[in-house]
Amino acid sequence: MSVTQQFVRYHDGLEKKQENEDALIEDIVASMARVKRKTFDKLRHAVRDAHAKSHGILKGRISVYDNLPEPLRQGVFSRPASYPAVLRLSTAAGDIHSDRTSMPRGMAIKMLGVDGRQLLPGRELATTQDLLPVNHPVIAFGHVAAYATIQPFVEKHVDAPEVSRHIAAALARGGSKALHAIGVENAAIDTLGAPNSHILGETFYSMAAIRYVDYVAKVCVAPLSYGVRQLTGQLLRDGADPSELRDLVVAYFEKQGAEYEVRGQLCTDTGRMPIEDASVPWPEQESPYIPVARLSIPAQQAYSPARRVFADDVLSFNPWHGIDAHRPLGSIMRVRIKAYEMSSAYRHQMNAQPRLEISRIEEVPD
Ligand code: HEM
Repeated sequence: MSVTQQFVRYHDGLEKKQENEDALIEDIVASMARVKRKTFDKLRHAVRDAHAKSHGILKGRISVYDNLPEPLRQGVFSRPASYPAVLRLSTAAGDIHSDRTSMPRGMAIKMLGVDGRQLLPGRELATTQDLLPVNHPVIAFGHVAAYATIQPFVEKHVDAPEVSRHIAAALARGGSKALHAIGVENAAIDTLGAPNSHILGETFYSMAAIRYVDYVAKVCVAPLSYGVRQLTGQLLRDGADPSELRDLVVAYFEKQGAEYEVRGQLCTDTGRMPIEDASVPWPEQESPYIPVARLSIPAQQAYSPARRVFADDVLSFNPWHGIDAHRPLGSIMRVRIKAYEMSSAYRHQMNAQPRLEISRIEEVPD
């Protein structure tokens, strides 16, 4: 068997629509919209429905490695190109909480100058590919029907921020403790057991699958240079400030740059590596994450007021902002089409900000 024959070949039939999927998606998104209106009334500012709090906005560059093996030499990684990128570091809750509460971390990445047919209508002229990885390999509620069981709890507890944060953590992480959220009236979920670690030392995962042109993959972004590798597992100090993560990111990039590695994990078996259930970890012993590109971030001012406003209020990161060659796969990705559109449209409307897509890194303020 040749190397390429081991990998599952992409075809449209790999995705299987769930029973009642369209109605479930409508219910989830309608509930999220109600939550969003309540959050707006509390803050009198529209924030993201998830990952509302940013901790750093960074300009960097993704450089594809030379001589990748054929199955990984695909799509945006098909040649040793170098793409400018803007990154937004965040935590998962839909409100602006204290960093003393341990929350899953996100690293949204927008690659610029990408060729290929864009997925969403109206984006024919866009040249971006977004990646939205989180620091956990799976999402506990990994398909639409499972997600639909948790969303009512999110809505019910919108006025109880502590409970909502626990649910947000459960949503973004895996494990049995997360499932404990369902049916527990006060949602005393203890996913906060996740270590409250330095955001720059984390490895971030797509959690769900994407098309990798002829194949199917999950993607991760892992610390590569010594400066960020030594932060892996480093806990926030006792009595950390409410905005400790921002302060750590700003202090780090004031003095030095960082390198991360983008890696792809190809699907070798849709039974053990399901596409339609993103709560199942894909075994790395069967298909390891293979390095495909380097993300280089020079020293810079990571959180100027102009940058924060631009990234929080003007930019939108969205897994469907990208090319057909990297189409998001599975029902948990399909629900994200309407969820991100609703959240971003409302945010921009209420904050009276233009909805735009950038094409040049210079558009991101310093
Ligand atoms: C598959 C796993 C998922 C991952 C890895 C993920 C990751 C992320 C990340 C990193 C962000 C922050 C983006 C930014 O900085 O702008 C984000 C935002 C968001 N996520 Fe997810 N997410 C996932 C699933 C979902 C699902 C299932 C939903 C809803 C049903 C959802 C709804 C949202 C919304 C509404 C936003 C804010 C969008 C905006 O206002 O621009 N996510 N997500």
